[in-house]
Amino acid sequence: MILGSQWGDEGKGKITDYFTEKSDMIVRFQGGTNAGHTIVVKNEKFKFHLLPSGILHPEKKSIIGNGVVVDPKILIQEIEGLEKKGIQPNLLISERANVIMPYHKIMDSAEEKIRGKKIGTTKRGIGPCYSDKISRGGIRMMDLTDEKILKEKLDNIIPVKQKIFQAFGEETILSTNETLKEYLEYGKKLGKYIADTSLIINQAFDNGKNVLLEGAQGTQLDVDHGTYPYTTSSNTIAGGGCTGSGISPLKIKNIIGVVKAYTTRVGEGPMPTELEDKTGKQIRDKGSEYGTTTGRPRRCGWLDMVVVNYACRINGFTSLAVTKIDVLSGLEKLKICKAYKYNNEIITNFPADIRILEKCVPVYEEFDGWEEKNWKEIVKSGYDALPENMKKYLEYISSSSKVPTGIVSLGPGREETINLKG
Ligand code: IMP
Repeated sequence: MILGSQWGDEGKGKITDYFTEKSDMIVRFQGGTNAGHTIVVKNEKFKFHLLPSGILHPEKKSIIGNGVVVDPKILIQEIEGLEKKGIQPNLLISERANVIMPYHKIMDSAEEKIRGKKIGTTKRGIGPCYSDKISRGGIRMMDLTDEKILKEKLDNIIPVKQKIFQAFGEETILSTNETLKEYLEYGKKLGKYIADTSLIINQAFDNGKNVLLEGAQGTQLDVDHGTYPYTTSSNTIAGGGCTGSGISPLKIKNIIGVVKAYTTRVGEGPMPTELEDKTGKQIRDKGSEYGTTTGRPRRCGWLDMVVVNYACRINGFTSLAVTKIDVLSGLEKLKICKAYKYNNEIITNFPADIRILEKCVPVYEEFDGWEEKNWKEIVKSGYDALPENMKKYLEYISSSSKVPTGIVSLGPGREETINLKG
């Protein structure tokens, strides 16, 4: 299982792609088109929102699990985009996965407008779709291939949504017939991919296959354990991997926490180590820290070990993958947050109450920086060849978290990766 330990955008796509080599099956288990995974293969950039990062390996099975909310229109675009490049996706989609409908996207924007404090959602309909799922009013992938059921559901749902729109001052008129036609068409195109994926994943385990679960977003965006309400609407943590794919916790052997060597956040909500100065800008520009989904500039700051250590506790990471450490090259001094100061008290456990978090002041450990180098070359000689100051920075991360670092990533390509476990 590969999970984000911060606010998403840690570089999980690249790490997943790297481990895909050793896997037979890659499963996404939560989130939807709010996610954006960038993978670089042989200098070609691929961006996905829904497809698992393993999709570039057509010999492996990629699965969209029941915990994902699927926007069929976008999914079809991603599939067709791959087909145009000559890649035939080896994909299955859970029949249980909920479908993002046009009214979810409208409500996502409408709810943001009336919120006192904005969440800064990606406006992809994620929250409203999960709300309908939990209140048992959702449309599932299996419904898209059954005209009678889909019509019955839409006949019930759309008039209610229309009334809600009115209350929100939304003028869009939804047509049940048009929506039915459009989504049945999606069902026709996607029908061959829809399956009982929990059964298929469990059969893969029974046959001794390696299954890779690919998380989206990060621990701090988990709806239960993140900086609520400034979170997404799914469980992004290890537990979500089981509910979102239909497997037992006992099946999970390794949980890799992806830690970006600094912190970023997109959207609203507290971020104690945020740098609103030229260092923050330098990190943003050098690290291309702009949202894959919305293009918004990401808020950048120093690495926050209170956040990472909390993620280790919630997820039980067995090892860490530290990414984008090359981005910090050239900075004379670096800082890592080791604790927060709150009302003259030192806190090392991440607080649940964001009113406390908003007042927390980071307590920093300072590090000497290292110079820019040709990392592609250095990586060939392994960990020992890294600059001493970079190693000190990395070693601080594993000693503070008490979790060994298994991977160090020094660039977007597969070849810019050091695997400490060999
Ligand atoms: P939503 O998931 O669109 O409802 O957005 C809720 C919050 O999660 C917002 O702050 C988003 O910016 C953030 N978010 C959602 N998906 C991602 C992601 O993949 N990376 C980083 N932030 C995300």
